[in-house]
Parts: sequence; structure tokens; C-alpha cells
Amino acid sequence: MKRITTVDAMQRFADRTRSQDCTLALVPTMGALHEGHLALVEDALDRADRVVVSIFVNPTQFGPEEDYDTYPRDLERDEELLSARGVDAVFAPSVDEMYPNADDALDGPVTWVTVEQLTDSLCGAYRDGHFRGVTTVVSKLFHACKPHVAVFGTKDAQQLVVLRRMVEDLLLDVDIVGVETVREEDGLAASSRNAYLSPDERRQAVVLSRAVRAAEQRIRQGEQQVEGVVEAMNDALSRAPDGRVQYADVVDARTLQPIDRLDPGDDVLAAVAVFFGDTRLIDNAFISVPSED
Ligand code: PAF
Repeated sequence: MKRITTVDAMQRFADRTRSQDCTLALVPTMGALHEGHLALVEDALDRADRVVVSIFVNPTQFGPEEDYDTYPRDLERDEELLSARGVDAVFAPSVDEMYPNADDALDGPVTWVTVEQLTDSLCGAYRDGHFRGVTTVVSKLFHACKPHVAVFGTKDAQQLVVLRRMVEDLLLDVDIVGVETVREEDGLAASSRNAYLSPDERRQAVVLSRAVRAAEQRIRQGEQQVEGVVEAMNDALSRAPDGRVQYADVVDARTLQPIDRLDPGDDVLAAVAVFFGDTRLIDNAFISVPSED
């Protein structure tokens, strides 16, 4: 497996792959790989002739109070995991490589990719600039890696919806694939941030997946008011005494805008974000409101 660290070498690898008539899949990650990432890699390996995994902790998607400096980094361990699965290359650029003009006379990057409105709700309402950082770096990764297909986790549901829209609106020639969330035995969604939890917080963190399941059940039972579903989610979350709920909400699955009613055939997204100490965890489910027959 190759380690590629420059955009130039990455583009040459992509051009070579394409000139051999091979398809290229990209799995963008920030490293600290876990079972969830490995499920994305397996999906990518099934879909394309060559697979590149990018490992880049992207500074522009972290707020000033967030965990950019302490975010877990272990490139060698990550590479061992990927090489064992048959990944062709890891793209692991430096921050200067991805943001080449950050040290010029202007204050920080001046070119951004922004998706509006879809980024106002859920995580976007609390993480100022986060999605601008994500859409900008993913656009750059697409230009560097030139993939035919890019694979993302459904656990970051808002990210997935935003990126799909970015690709549509900017006419980018990349297929976006979303892979089902990988869960631990008790239902907790796999996340690099789970490693920050104390044993007690880890036990309590099961409430996130329970809240999402409570939303699914309420909707299947015929609840027509979002308020009723959110009540069930908050009830599940209240069983974690150390959890601080940031949000529990149900929004339209395509526009991510708030809704009040659930009508048969609607597609909605139920999503939660909860802090345990400084550790912020999220979970969600896409749910179709059953039709009346
Ligand atoms: O989901 C992530 O790990 C990141 O947001 C991504 C897509 C790799 C962009 O930095």
C-alpha cells in the first residue's frame, strides 16, 4: 500500500488509475480508524478497482473550543489496518499541503465552499463554520484524488445530506455513497470520540441509540406530531444522568428544515447530540413515515 503525501503525487496516481480504465473510490477520514471506517473501506473495495483512504485532520472544521489539538492521531496503526484490507493507497497530506496559502499576507484561507440552509439546523446550529470546513476540504480532496465514487458514513447524516447537495449543485462528477452506521453491541454508534468516554459515561452513552430507536417506534406507532416524537427521544436521553443534551430533533430528511407534522410517506431524519463532559456524541436515523392502508 502506498502512502501519498502531496497533492501532485495523488493526482498522478488518480490519472494513472483512470488511464488504465480502472475505477477509483475515495474514503475520506480523519484517521483514528474504527469499525465504522472499516465498513466504509469494505464498501469501497466492493465498488471500485482501486481504493484510496484519505487521512487528514482538517483544522477548518473544528471550532476554537473544539478538540482539533487533541483529536487522536496514529497514522501507522491506521495504515496497518488499511493495508491488511487491501487498500491501494493512503493520502495523508500535511495542513500546508491542503491549505497552501495559509501563511500569506491574508488571514487564513480565503476560498471556501459553502452549502447554505441545509447547514442551519442540527449540528450546524451549534458548530459555527463546521460544515463550511467540511465542504471545503471534501471539495479539495475530490480535486486531489479525482475519485469516481466517495464513501461516507450515515452516522454523520447531516454531513452526508450536505455533501450530496454540494455535488449536485456544483455538478461534480463523483457518486456519493452512504454506508449504514456500525454499532457496538449495546447500540452505541462507532466513533473515534467514544475513546474519550470514562467507563461510566460509556455505559450511559447507550441512550443516544435508544433515543433514535424511540423516535422510530413512535413514528411507526402512528405519532403525527414531531413534538410527541421529540418527547420520546428526550425521555430516553434523560436516563443518562451525566449526559447534557445539545439537541434532539426531527427534520425533513432532504432539506433538514424543521417540521411540525408527520404525514404518511414523509421521509424524516431523527437526530441527537449529547455531551458527556467535553465529549460530544451524535446519532440519528432516517425514517419513512408509514403510509396509511
Ligand atoms: O467525516 C469525517 O471524518 C470528516 O468530516 C471528513 C468527511 C473526512 C472531512 O474532513
